[in-house]
Amino acid sequence: MAQQEDLLKNIISHAKEYGFVFQSSEIYDGLSAVYDYAQNGAELKKNIRDYWWKAMVQMHDNIVGIDSAIFMHPTVWKASGHVDAFNDPMIDNKDSKKRYRADVLVEDHIAKIEAKIAKEITKASKRFGDSFDEQQFRETNPRVLANLEKIEGIKKRLYPAMDENDMEAIKLLIEDLGIACPVSGSRNWTEVRQFNLMFSTQMGSTAEGASEIFLRPETAQGIFVNYLNVQKTGRMKIPFGIAQTGKAFRNEIVARQFIFRMREFEQMEMQFFVRPGEEMKWYEYWKEERMNWHKSLGIPAEKYRFHDHDKLAHYANAAADIEFEFPMGFKELEGIHSRTDFDLSAHEEFSGKKLRYHDPELNKSYVPYVVETSIGLDRMFLAVLTFAYTEEMLEDGSNRVVLKLPPILSPYKVAVFPLLKKAGLPEKAHEILDGLKSDYMCFYEEKDSIGKRYRRHDALGTPYCVTVDHQTLEDNTVTIRERDSMKQERVKIEEVSGIIAARLKA
Ligand code: GAP
Repeated sequence: MAQQEDLLKNIISHAKEYGFVFQSSEIYDGLSAVYDYAQNGAELKKNIRDYWWKAMVQMHDNIVGIDSAIFMHPTVWKASGHVDAFNDPMIDNKDSKKRYRADVLVEDHIAKIEAKIAKEITKASKRFGDSFDEQQFRETNPRVLANLEKIEGIKKRLYPAMDENDMEAIKLLIEDLGIACPVSGSRNWTEVRQFNLMFSTQMGSTAEGASEIFLRPETAQGIFVNYLNVQKTGRMKIPFGIAQTGKAFRNEIVARQFIFRMREFEQMEMQFFVRPGEEMKWYEYWKEERMNWHKSLGIPAEKYRFHDHDKLAHYANAAADIEFEFPMGFKELEGIHSRTDFDLSAHEEFSGKKLRYHDPELNKSYVPYVVETSIGLDRMFLAVLTFAYTEEMLEDGSNRVVLKLPPILSPYKVAVFPLLKKAGLPEKAHEILDGLKSDYMCFYEEKDSIGKRYRRHDALGTPYCVTVDHQTLEDNTVTIRERDSMKQERVKIEEVSGIIAARLKA
């Protein structure tokens, strides 16, 4: 675990040192859980966004993309349930003065019991070898059974208490489980209180005329309220989808772990409108599609897993997370939710406008059901960095840090270096750069030794470095160095573009 914590620390300092992510307003000591993307981070983030947009919008004939405003009519959030139900229960420890999400304290306690079960299983599987039957062990081992029963007992108390907003019951559960503050170690807790996560501000110039509006906590509602406009103007037929990417804001109680949980973040969401009754088919379809998208980046499948929700949000009849193995363990990266007709029906009711679709095949009008895929762009950024960040010991005993980014996501696809800052080499390097830069993000660098320049671009995740030397002037060849293998090859200048293009398709 300590090693994993070090990994997160190393990623954070690498992200700062190499111009990926800075703390917001750093010269004023920062703003909690708000971050800025720097010159290389902005490129990486844009590439992730483009990769998502291409897979969702460009590759699907029946999905279109929009860009709705962050500010929306305040009644949108009443209809969506966010004004009344977008709350987290919070609790403070009186000794450490630390604030926690009460349900997360209980879920962390459950995770500890699950870890005990996993330990028993690992021990037994070593003892029994090939003949080990995990399911039978789970069903018969008394210690495992007792722990499973404990977990069930806790869930039976936590979930109804959450559903019924019973803060006293959650407090009692924390006390009964003997949960202590991870910082002070004490069990000296305040009462549990509900906390609405939406940020609000005033729209209008005079105090009397101003109205309270919210910064959107999800991009999805901008899609719902535009669904009929898009359907009509785009002549879309069900099933069809609307996608968008954009900022969302949540006043998170506990905002830690770098860009994993932020107060201002970006989502990439798609609402897929389907016939009522067909939602489970599409829910399964999108679960698989989205998992395949992750795997298409070449990140190993074992870094991902599904987590089906026991407790459903107020709008869903089925929900699953795609979890990724972050340095802090497996955590939610993306959600796939079957949202029924909850949102559209609520907007019909609150706006008084019909939001029905006339299905020409069924000759019937209905409020469509919705299956949503929702991924945090910043979380995906952290997932990609977690996968890519590699510390290597080389054959000569030296160390290198390399970002093994999927090349399609790398901020720069190629760096061009003149071996020396003289003898016509910079001019030739610029000529090569000019030939590549309309197709690829390129970087030109002539400072420092060639070895240092290679290391710097390893750290940025640049898949190829092209070096221009004296021979280049004689025969128009360059050396091209591949980031992961560090192999160098001499190739003709006109071959460079094709080599990069082939790698980007792979
Ligand atoms: N429209 C559905 C929705 O917003 P969600 O599970 O609350 O569902 C979707 O959020 C995704 O947005 C999450 O899986 C996560 O990747 C990202 N996300 C949510 N809150 C976040 C936060 N505070 N910081 C960064 N990413 C966040």
